[in-house]
Amino acid sequence: MDFSIKASEPSKGLKTAAAAGGDAINVKTDCLVVGVFEQQALSGLAKQLDTASKGLLGRMVKRGELDGKLGSTVLLHEVAGWGAARVLLVGMGREAQLNAKSFAEATRAAVRALITTRAADAFWSLTATPVSGRDTAWAVRTAVIALRDATYRFTAMKSKVEAPAPALRKVVLTVAADDVKAARNAALQGGAIANGMALTKDLGNLPGNVCTPTYLAETARSLAKEFKLSSEILGPKQIEALKMGAFLSVSRGSVEPPRFIVLKYQGAAAKNAPIVLVGKGVTFDTGGISLKPGEGMDEMKYDMCGAGSVLGTLRAVAEMGLKLNVIAIVPATENMPSGLATKPGDIVTSMSGQTIEVLNTDAEGRLILCDALTYAERFKPAAVIDVATLTGACIIALGHINSGLFSKSDVLADQLLAAGRLAGDTAWRLPVEDEYQEQLKSNFADVANIGGRPAGSVTAACFLARFTEKYEWAHLDVAGTAWKSGAAKGATGRPVPLLTQFLIDREAR
Ligand code: BES
Ligand code: MN
Ligand code: ZN
Repeated sequence: MDFSIKASEPSKGLKTAAAAGGDAINVKTDCLVVGVFEQQALSGLAKQLDTASKGLLGRMVKRGELDGKLGSTVLLHEVAGWGAARVLLVGMGREAQLNAKSFAEATRAAVRALITTRAADAFWSLTATPVSGRDTAWAVRTAVIALRDATYRFTAMKSKVEAPAPALRKVVLTVAADDVKAARNAALQGGAIANGMALTKDLGNLPGNVCTPTYLAETARSLAKEFKLSSEILGPKQIEALKMGAFLSVSRGSVEPPRFIVLKYQGAAAKNAPIVLVGKGVTFDTGGISLKPGEGMDEMKYDMCGAGSVLGTLRAVAEMGLKLNVIAIVPATENMPSGLATKPGDIVTSMSGQTIEVLNTDAEGRLILCDALTYAERFKPAAVIDVATLTGACIIALGHINSGLFSKSDVLADQLLAAGRLAGDTAWRLPVEDEYQEQLKSNFADVANIGGRPAGSVTAACFLARFTEKYEWAHLDVAGTAWKSGAAKGATGRPVPLLTQFLIDREAR
């Protein structure tokens, strides 16, 4: 999809609105998208449209057909006096109550309605509406990401086309004349983030027999090539040489060889400490010998969504050319039962030297992450953030709205929470207090890999915390947010928006 920016009003040097591309009344487009506020006289572009159509919109308001309620949409076709083939009127709610949340909601509603029109090009004026506490760049990123997100389709595994692809190809976004430059940059950023999300979704949606550890490694290698990143991909022998006994205990039962993937983006001087992102890359989680029940097990192909999101984030960061250093680390493996598989009660030695009693082979995410987190020490990171579909308990705690955020650092936690709010990809903080370590006691090893049912997400985070003492660390449990189940089954691309916003903010400091 192609995005461009135009001024919504003539800038000072220009005589006519048309010269600045702001003549929306006459603009030739498949669909002009216009906001309407609730409980107030028509204003702005809606008022101009009303005048040009001899009061059509005013009459609709009187009849109660156009009320501006948040998220409502009304589509008008070929109205005399307007240049657009269609005009999509979008309810923005009450102007005084317009905030980031309601604006994003109106944006998503407008996107849905616009796509169903099958318009091939659109003129999008919502980005010219000021939103309290947010700048125009934010509104543009929000629109671009919402448009790309809603038009994403995963058809790679279909032998023939079922539904026609979305028709929308070109969108012109209008902004105040003074904001044009910032908006152009924001549109590029939004596009880069959307590309990162699309990669994350593709990797998640691919089945386990295609998206194997080797496939993830090949994806990282081709990203490295395309964006001039450096990559390092380790196989079983090298992983063993590193003494990653916890990681290897998970891959033992599988015929697919594990891969340990390191991808480096250098956007700043080498002396700048990097942000390290670690993603759980279990390309299929059967549970191992502690086998999962069959129902819905197909969704465990999504157990590599943490990995997908750190690769997607690196893609976005590289495309944006952010001036900081970021490293992605992905331990990739299947978790399978077999004669060679790790058994409940087996004790393994992690790269850190800590011994772990594997009481449940289905708590495998923490086993692969702990070795990756130890490996991360060598980069002397400014911060390490791991992303994992780690616990079913996180879905019980937070549902599918917020990702779980765990960190002992208030500063890092607050930065991540704020980035999530800004990007509309929110997280909610849960504790990682040492009091919970009690639940991870083992009679036979240094630590057990499960802590019982109470606070299952917290004890998982506490397990990881034992391997992160050398740096600032945060953990995102995306079990409830990385994909959707049911009729709309599919990866969401989360938490790529949160992570990229965090990195954009980090660059700006
Ligand atoms: N990948 C799962 C977590 C998961 C389950 C995510 C369902 C999303 C939906 C993880 O490896 C797992 O199996 N965790 C166990 C841990 C338990 C054995 C302590 C869980 O959550 O049941
Ligand atoms: Mn599991
Ligand atoms: Zn898992």
